[in-house]
Amino acid sequence: MTAAGIDQTISALRVSAVERAEAAATQEELEAVRVEVLGRKGALNTISKEFGKLSPEDRKRIGQLLNEAKQSIEAAIETRAVAFESAKLNARLASEWLDLTLPAPGPRRGSLHPITIIQSEIEELFVSMGFTVLDGPEVETEEHNFDALNIPADHPARDMQDTFWLEGGNVLRTHTSPVQVRGMRKLKPPFRMIAPGRVFRNEAVDASHEHTFYQIEGMMVDREASVAHLIFFMKEMLRAIMHRDVKIRLRPGFFPFVEPGFELDLQCFICAGAGCAVCKQSGWVEQLGCGLVHPNVLRMSGIDPEVWNGFAFGLGLTRLAMMRYGIDDIRWLQSGDLRFLRQF
Ligand code: DAH
Repeated sequence: MTAAGIDQTISALRVSAVERAEAAATQEELEAVRVEVLGRKGALNTISKEFGKLSPEDRKRIGQLLNEAKQSIEAAIETRAVAFESAKLNARLASEWLDLTLPAPGPRRGSLHPITIIQSEIEELFVSMGFTVLDGPEVETEEHNFDALNIPADHPARDMQDTFWLEGGNVLRTHTSPVQVRGMRKLKPPFRMIAPGRVFRNEAVDASHEHTFYQIEGMMVDREASVAHLIFFMKEMLRAIMHRDVKIRLRPGFFPFVEPGFELDLQCFICAGAGCAVCKQSGWVEQLGCGLVHPNVLRMSGIDPEVWNGFAFGLGLTRLAMMRYGIDDIRWLQSGDLRFLRQF
């Protein structure tokens, strides 16, 4: 091929390659142009093989032409490739758009368990009246759970049916009263303490019985601690829990660790004492056990009953929560069911 022929071929190639690149409909088509014209075996490289036959001046001029052609073809291909990319991006944006004006879903919040709510209310109240909150172990010694509370070995509370006995003679505590014992041995009288916690009884489970439930224990030891003091604190507590004035009554009740011992009833707040299904037509709902601490109990924990007196009480937190919230089946409380828990 003559130098003039090469000139022409290059110009023609340049024009047609640029046109084809600009007109390419797909990325594949564009890539084909690149391979065909710029590739190792492409048209431009084929032309440069003719160089050997050219004079030095022609070689220089044509070399430059080739370079220019290459650059403008590359530029055309690059421009087209960028256009493809942005078309792709636009398509994606069009399909993935977000409506930023939509209201966002609110955060999921947890809530307190009904027992926790009641427990912290009671704790707060008693702390405000000078009580200390104590904690005790759920696995107790027989001594703390029974003996030190003046519960003799033949008392029915020790019956295999009620108590979970563990190997080695320990028990799962059947009430929070053993924390009284720990309190008496740890605190110097006068003192006031409460102890909320989980207790265990070997019972068949039904709508009103659980093997695991919650109680709160309370004790005050002072030079003078009378039934009048006891009544005052019990009324304060029940009024705070029920959020209303309450009427109470005491009946004699037997608990080995108090003397005298009482069952305290709350006037039914559903029917105001008239009689209804909740109070089984009696007008009163049994609420808690309490009494003046038995001298044996004080003595067994190193407190001189000639100098110190005390009152004690114990009530079911689980029962209170059921009353407050109208929960009709005790099994809901430990079900872990979110439909139940989300209501509090
Ligand atoms: N510990 C008793 C129970 O389980 C409740 C109780 C009654 C606690 C009388 C007391 C009390 O402190 O004086 O059921």
